[in-house]
Amino acid sequence: MMNQNLQLNNEGHLKHFLTIEGLSAKILNEILDTAESFVSMSQQQVQKFPLLRGKTIVNLFFENSTRTRSTFELAATRLSADILNVDIATSATSKGESLLDTINTLEAMHVDMFVVRHPLSGAAHFIAQHTSPHISIINAGDGQHAHPTQAMLDVFTIRQHHPDFSQLKVAIVGDILHSRVARSQIQALNTLGVKEVRLIAPKTLLPAHVESLGIRAYHDMKQGLDDIDVIIMLRLQKERMNSAFLASESEYFKCFGLTEEKLKLAKKDALVMHPGPINRGVEIASSVADGNKSLILKQVSNGIAVRMAIMSMAIQVGVGK
Ligand code: CP
Repeated sequence: MMNQNLQLNNEGHLKHFLTIEGLSAKILNEILDTAESFVSMSQQQVQKFPLLRGKTIVNLFFENSTRTRSTFELAATRLSADILNVDIATSATSKGESLLDTINTLEAMHVDMFVVRHPLSGAAHFIAQHTSPHISIINAGDGQHAHPTQAMLDVFTIRQHHPDFSQLKVAIVGDILHSRVARSQIQALNTLGVKEVRLIAPKTLLPAHVESLGIRAYHDMKQGLDDIDVIIMLRLQKERMNSAFLASESEYFKCFGLTEEKLKLAKKDALVMHPGPINRGVEIASSVADGNKSLILKQVSNGIAVRMAIMSMAIQVGVGK
């Protein structure tokens, strides 16, 4: 039996990880603390943990991915699980098999967890509602809805530099409208008590009524970056744009691209982040992406420990219940 939040079991422990929405600061901090312990143990040369030995995890990516898919695979391997990477391009999906038939087929192979990326918002929730109770579902990005493991690795990376969130000011810059990452980041940062989350974007790339969520919106980098501790840049999600949202990429870079000059508008020690993939010269200058304030590759590394934490928490609760 599930409680009202599909993601938690009756004892309030993580069973699925579908969205940050509705999860408490206690659960989010438990994920961050567990990830921290994996990082500490890795620094002591412990690379492999027997926590998920005998468990089978399926990586089911209906959309392209470099970082998320690879780090989930590494995370599963380091937890001693068996990992099955389904190649959707060569799978029976191309012969017209439905999502549920694919899931049922894989479930018949006695799997314990699906890690799912899908172009449709709500796909991971849908799968969680239609799989056996012992199976855990992790959302690796669904449409424009959520990318919760990305948000967790982002807040984990911020916490390594700023353990106290209560005075922290974070700006998320770029294509907020189409970004599942931004949605999950806003929820995570707010739940964890960050002092201020700002959104900076052209009007055409901001969802309506963001201010009703208690977030300040800016359309100008000079005002938006003032006094900011952490800048999170986002990619223009051109694959999700069904009409022209911008005059041109060069105009966008001029106004919203993070250059060394614009970086000086934020606090002196401001950090630069980006979930990737980055488009150099579109939303970020190479000198900033590769500069000493950039945490972009650290975010990727941290993705392994954070995904290990989420998988181990969900599967140990989910399996056998
Ligand atoms: N940040 C992110 O989701 O990257 P990938 O698409 O490479 O997984």
